[in-house]
Order: sequence, then structure tokens, then C-alpha cells
Amino acid sequence: MIRFSRSYTTVAASICKSYNCIPGPKSYPLLGSVPNYFPLIGKYDPTNVVKSGIIKFHEFGPIIKESFFGQEIVFLYDPADIETLFRQGSNNRRSHITLAHIRKASQDHINGGILVENGPAWAQLRSGSQQALTSEAFEKYLPKFDEFTMRLIGKINSDKNTQKVLEKDFLLALNAHSCDSVCYMLFGSELDSINDVLNAEALTTKVIESAAYFNRMMATMDNGPMLWKKFPSQLYNKLKKCMDDVELIPKREVYSRMTNKSLANGPGILNSWIHEGVKESKTMITLLSDLLLAGIDTTSYTLAFVLYNLSVNKRVQDKLYEELRLIDPELKRRIPLSLETLSRATYLKRVVKESMRLYPVSVGTSRVLEEPCVIAGYRLPENTTVITMNQVTSRLDEYVDKALEFIPERYEANSGFRKIRPFTSLPFGHGPRACIGRRIAESSMYSFLFRLMRNYEIEWVGSKPLGFVTHSLTEPDAPLLFRFTPRDS
Ligand code: HEM
Repeated sequence: MIRFSRSYTTVAASICKSYNCIPGPKSYPLLGSVPNYFPLIGKYDPTNVVKSGIIKFHEFGPIIKESFFGQEIVFLYDPADIETLFRQGSNNRRSHITLAHIRKASQDHINGGILVENGPAWAQLRSGSQQALTSEAFEKYLPKFDEFTMRLIGKINSDKNTQKVLEKDFLLALNAHSCDSVCYMLFGSELDSINDVLNAEALTTKVIESAAYFNRMMATMDNGPMLWKKFPSQLYNKLKKCMDDVELIPKREVYSRMTNKSLANGPGILNSWIHEGVKESKTMITLLSDLLLAGIDTTSYTLAFVLYNLSVNKRVQDKLYEELRLIDPELKRRIPLSLETLSRATYLKRVVKESMRLYPVSVGTSRVLEEPCVIAGYRLPENTTVITMNQVTSRLDEYVDKALEFIPERYEANSGFRKIRPFTSLPFGHGPRACIGRRIAESSMYSFLFRLMRNYEIEWVGSKPLGFVTHSLTEPDAPLLFRFTPRDS
């Protein structure tokens, strides 16, 4: 059965154009589009996926096909077509190929994990983890997350050693906070990564750096000719070592509880799994490692861009401060944070939403079609890999008014801005395979920003504006250089 996109439901399949007619950059034998990204002779910058995407959109339109070393990919830019893709219902993704390969060769895993698997194997892993990551589950962790934030805030202006390090790159603090929060939620243990920031040998520092490096280099490995599958390269071995490091904490925590079940008392997803007693230790290690890998730098990069946007938009920062002061009027006797308190911070949520429109950690989302489908008038066969280019779409005036400006008010009713069409910005993906940590990530970012922005005014002191660079994730392209001035009321 062929499915039709919104605009083609009444058009006979026969008049839809063939897959081969989808436009795209020049393709070369064996390499496909790769030479188009070569330095000097190529038209597109491989390190700036968004800029290249905008050029290609204007050259070829909203649907583009490219091949990389024989792997064909269809890219979508129009929100209507992105909607068609998701309504089509495929939940398969072609991602984390290197991770899949590392795990297949290892004794420590019985499956590739939630990031890697497709079909029934993925569905089983997903349904067995979903419950632990809802907003309701998050509420239990919120007081502790808030404590981690207060600990960090306390260090910004008082602990001189930490302060010196954080002044050079505040991303270290954001990583530490994300690591502490994710680990508390997974294991119910307090790690105090913020103190470890000064110690390159500390376990948490190793885990944070290894997860970030793995995520950064994964795209290079997954999108190349993959010769490393036959001849393990230096980079492949390094990524394997990174995964060993990421798994250190999950292994330690799982094995200790398997030998002594009394350690499984207290909060944390692992403790509840141990009590349920249905998961094998290898499955728990795989899932917990996936959550660490997917949860730390996604959250810290997102927060990095929110803070940057606030630091260079004084009007927005002042308005946010006023909102937070109304909710929490006495700085000294801080109110306890709950989901209910956070739900009153509506401007804060718009600030985060606007920042994620412009700086989502993922340029888009990929799906592999489980059945043939018509999108934008072209017939796409089963097994086609499709990538939505939401970050590019979100930055085009064709789809968003004043697209490059940071304006949280655009989400207010009667703002005067054109309503942004659904499926334009999807920072957490969409559908049953969307980010499993979304609710936790959102609430933890709101709580972090609530305290930080209630306590400090922040300014950007970098010598030039912060940009972004896209590896597998979209990251800040320079250290985060902020000045923090305490608020006195
Ligand atoms: C601001 C923070 C975060 C952002 C922007 C983000 C974004 C994303 C995106 C775009 C996807 C792909 C969704 C799709 O294919 O439709 C994803 C998947 C995933 N995320 Fe997140 N994420 C964040 C935080 C987290 C956290 C805190 C965790 C866990 C603790 C997490 C765990 C996962 C997992 C396990 C997947 C794979 C889900 C699956 O394939 O079923 N993420 N995330």
C-alpha cells in the first residue's frame, strides 16, 4: 500500500514522480555527494550542516536526495512533508551504527540498546523504560536536582578554585549538573560532579568527557565508508574505550546491587528495576549506559544556548527575572520547587522553547520507511532513509517570521507573529520514538534556570558572538564565557 502526503491524497499514484527524480547536488561514482563537501572544491561546508542546508534548500527546494558512499538519504525541509513522514508511522531509525557494532562484539550486552535497535527489540526496551521517565516520576527527583543547582550556584562566586575553572568555560558546570541529575535519576546516588570539575582523573569527569567525545565523533564514523567494520581504526578503538568509560558507573551500580539487594533501597530507576526483578543485568547495563550517553550533553548543550541567548538579550533576561521574582519573592527563603511552581513560569518555558527552535541539539530526526510512501509528490520506496531538517526549517523566513531573531513572545496568543506550523521545530523528535527523556530534561532545565536566573544576572563576555558547530549533536563552537552578578533581591 502506498501512503499519500496531505497534498496528494486525491492524486493518482501514477502521476507522482519517481524516486529517481528527487533533486539534489551532483553525484559522483562511488562517493556520491561526498566531493561536494571537499574543502576548496566543494560547494558545501561539512562542519556547518545548517548553512549548507540553507544553500541546498534555495538551490533544490524542500525535498533533496543525496548519496554518501552508496547510502542514499532523502532530506525534508517543509513542515507539511515532515508531518507526512511522521504520520506514515515508521519508528525505525538508522543511527548509532558504531555503537551497534561495538556492542555486537562485546560480552557485556545482549542487544544493541534502545538507541540502536529497531522493530520489536526496540519496542520491548522502550516500553520497559518509559514508565520511569515520566513527569510524575521526575517530581520525586526535583528536590535533589534543586539541591545540585544550589550547590553549583554556591560555587559560582565563593569557591575561588572552581570559579577560575568555570570562568574559562561554564559548559563544565552544565555538564557536571547534567551528569549529577541524570545519575541521581538512574541510580539514586549523589556523585557531586561539580567538585570533580577540578579533577581530570575523577570518574565523573571521565564519563562526561567520554560520552561527549563518543557523541561528537559518532557521525564521522557512521557516515563514512565504514571500513572500520573490517579494519578497526584508531578512532574506532578510541570510541570503544569511551563506551567502556561510560559503562563504568552503570556496571558498578548494577553489579553491587545484584550481589547485595539491600543496596537497592531508595530512589532511582535501577533500584525499581531490581525490585521488579524482570531485567537481566546485561540489559540494565545497556539501557543505563544509553540513558547516560543520550542524557548528559544533550541537556548541557541546550542549557548552554539558553544561557547564551539570555546573556545577549537583556530585555528578555529582565522580563524573565521579573517573572521569577513574582513567583519566588524572597531570595533568602527560597520556595520549594515543584512541578506546580515551575508550571507558573510560563515565560521561562517560552525562553527555552525559542532557544531550542534556533539551537536544537539535533539538526533533525531520521526515520527508515517501513513501507512505500508519497512525500512532496515523489514515490519513496520501503527502506528509504529520510532525515527531517528542522533546524534549517526553523531558521528560514519562509516558515518563521523574523526567523533568526530570539523572540520568546512569538508563542503568546495574539503576539502578532504568524503561528509557527506544527512539525517546524521538533527538538525532541516526534512520535513513539521521540526522546524518552523529554519530560525529565524539560523539567530539570526549568528548575535549573529558575534558580540560576533568580540568583544571578548574566552577561556574555566572549570577544565574539557564540556560534554552533554540528558534529552528531549541535554544540557551542567556543567556550562559554559568562560574567555572573549576584541579584540582591
Ligand atoms: C534537552 C535535552 C534533550 C534533547 C534536546 C534530546 C533530544 C532527543 C532527540 C532529538 C532524540 C531522537 C528522537 C526521535 O528520533 O524522534 C532523542 C532520543 C533519545 N533520548 Fe533524548 N534528548 C534530551 C535529553 C535526554 C535525556 C535527559 C535522556 C535520558 C536520561 C534522553 C534519552 C534519550 C533516549 C534513550 C533516546 C532514544 C529513544 C528511542 O530511540 O526510543 N534524552 N533525544
